[in-house]
Amino acid sequence: MKTTISQVGKYVGQEVTIGAWLANKRSSGKIAFLQLRDGTGFIQGVVVKQEVDEEVFSSAKAITQESSLYVTGLIREDERSPSGYELTVTNIEVIHDALDYPITPKEHGTEFLMDHRHLWLRSKRQHAIMKVRNEIIRATYQFFNEQGFVKVDPPILTGSSAEGTTNLFHTKYFDEDAYLSQSGQLYMEAAAMALGKVFSFGPTFRAEKSKTRRHLIEFWMIEPEMAFMDHEESLEVQEQYVAFIVQSVLENCQLELKALDRDLSKLEKVQAPFPRISYDDAITFLQEKGHEIKWGEDFGAPDETAIAESFDKPVFITNYPAEIKAFYMKPQPGREEVVLCADLIAPEGYGEIIGGSQRIDDQALLEQRYQEHNLSEESYQWYMDLRKYGSVPHSGFGLGLERTVAWLCGVEHVRETIPFPRLLNRLYP
Ligand code: 4AD
Ligand code: MG
Repeated sequence: MKTTISQVGKYVGQEVTIGAWLANKRSSGKIAFLQLRDGTGFIQGVVVKQEVDEEVFSSAKAITQESSLYVTGLIREDERSPSGYELTVTNIEVIHDALDYPITPKEHGTEFLMDHRHLWLRSKRQHAIMKVRNEIIRATYQFFNEQGFVKVDPPILTGSSAEGTTNLFHTKYFDEDAYLSQSGQLYMEAAAMALGKVFSFGPTFRAEKSKTRRHLIEFWMIEPEMAFMDHEESLEVQEQYVAFIVQSVLENCQLELKALDRDLSKLEKVQAPFPRISYDDAITFLQEKGHEIKWGEDFGAPDETAIAESFDKPVFITNYPAEIKAFYMKPQPGREEVVLCADLIAPEGYGEIIGGSQRIDDQALLEQRYQEHNLSEESYQWYMDLRKYGSVPHSGFGLGLERTVAWLCGVEHVRETIPFPRLLNRLYP
């Protein structure tokens, strides 16, 4: 019976064949332990010299790291193994011999591993991170589909900017200028006016000259947008959504979280509702702690971490000064210098994972903002139409997938949270 490692539980006591790669090996004169991986999981194969044909044992001793094989054997339950099973090998068929695999079980430097990202992805740790990433994506679709949202795909090539003009990726579009999308938001606003509640999931690009553990040049964002919803209601959707993905990862990625040595007690506390603190109060709090920050300035990573540390759940920082936020955010009624927005800061120092706001729905105010921000009214004509024809209160937000993966996995740097990271000085592989 041909099967995969994730399915072996169905075949206890039976003989199966698994297509696998050799991740690692230990052997003595009498026994060989093969660490096998097939993409679905990891299992140990045990080859006992006395119990197999001479050539099977010598083949087991000769196999090199990352060679591909068909391994046949008996599935046994084994409490000591993380997956709960072990394979007593009866036969090995080598498909391809891998010679001098560059990533050996010894320690390698980060740059070396990044240069070999196409192979590094095979490691147990990277495998676990990619599975958690996949679970977050799966849970995202489940959550928004169950809540009646429609998935809409905004364009990648755009003629205008959504999040400021300083970090745009420029390209030619035949005779016109085009930019890679920084955010699908403006298009999602149009979609919300057509479909009510919508969400997108796609790549976004920022030519940011930031070399930090939280910044990628190309990253993936989930962007819900909701008609007839105010800022408060949007915060409720955000906390329900984040709590749901954390719960899904806890339920469906047990082996992966274990492989990553993640402290589960920290994730188990992530239940809605999440605390909210105003920008004003956050500034006072930081000043009292001795941070050098004045009202009107944006938070740096150490500021965010200090705020996050006083909570064991993600925390919303609400109502920032309009000056430091995007042009489309709606001012707070009666206090025009701040806007109806929030950033959601993850616990444990993982930083901002969501940026969201209620959008300006008044045509005159939006026109004024175009001028203040030196945006060309021409390329935004279509966006203005949304305020001309049946404008409604509406809100939305964007969750950065890679920062969320980093937080749930307990991984220090976002470069490990995307299969092929695009960083300030890295376009290879
Ligand atoms: O806060 P941002 O810039 O918000 C927007 O783009 C809005 N238009 C979203 C919306 O309302 N529809 O980005 C949203 C999130 C951030 O909170 C962060 O998690 C992530 O995207 N992000 C990045 N992740 C990795 N690398 C970068 N360079 C990122 N920039 C933003
Ligand atoms: Mg932001």
